[in-house]
Amino acid sequence: MKVAPSILTADFLHLEKELKAIDKDSDYIHLDIMDGTLVPNISFGFPVIEAVAKAVSKPMDAHLMVVNPDKWFEKLASLGVQMVSFHLEASGRKTAENLQKAQKLGMKAGIAINPDVPVEKLYRYIGKADFFLIMSVFAGFGGQKFIYESLDRVGKLKAELLKKGSPALIEVDGGVGLSNAAALREAGADIVVAGSAVLGADDPAATIRALQEA
Ligand code: DX5
Ligand code: ZN
Repeated sequence: MKVAPSILTADFLHLEKELKAIDKDSDYIHLDIMDGTLVPNISFGFPVIEAVAKAVSKPMDAHLMVVNPDKWFEKLASLGVQMVSFHLEASGRKTAENLQKAQKLGMKAGIAINPDVPVEKLYRYIGKADFFLIMSVFAGFGGQKFIYESLDRVGKLKAELLKKGSPALIEVDGGVGLSNAAALREAGADIVVAGSAVLGADDPAATIRALQEA
């Protein structure tokens, strides 16, 4: 599996050091952008993304937990973001249009859903989205406990993608660590996001490699 460490729980006073410890082994760098409206928290914005872009060599994967996500696509693309996901809960009827908007800017576009959104709601976007982000905790905070029902949701979506012959990837985000990575791979996850499991580890690089090999 590919691993996208989330820097949400990084030590922001020493962000460069934190990034150097994960960049070499990471597949992507996951950026959690929150607006305090779609989710009950605010994280960080463009000045931080700009700084991260200068410090990492791996593609940035921006996870937008904001209302009106398309408002920010141009700016994100200009900062070098290569993968962007936004929540179905935020984009509603504009989802297909938003996917296209992001893709036209050269980014891979994904749809994220919280654990209480039926996974079937994603099916109509198969063939349109480059990837799907299944939240395995409720979006808003790092360090939460993995919701085990997420494995079923990943499995269902994977089966549907296979049935339709879609190459879209499945990314899983929230509470991911060495205790559930193998089960996620078996269920069909292609990319796992790991925040506290990586940044909180004694050896972040070794943890990333272990997740990749799970
Ligand atoms: C939660 C974020 C996650 C989070 C993951 O809203 O989308 O990316 O940072 O952190 P852990 O791995 O600690 O659950
Ligand atoms: Zn995330």
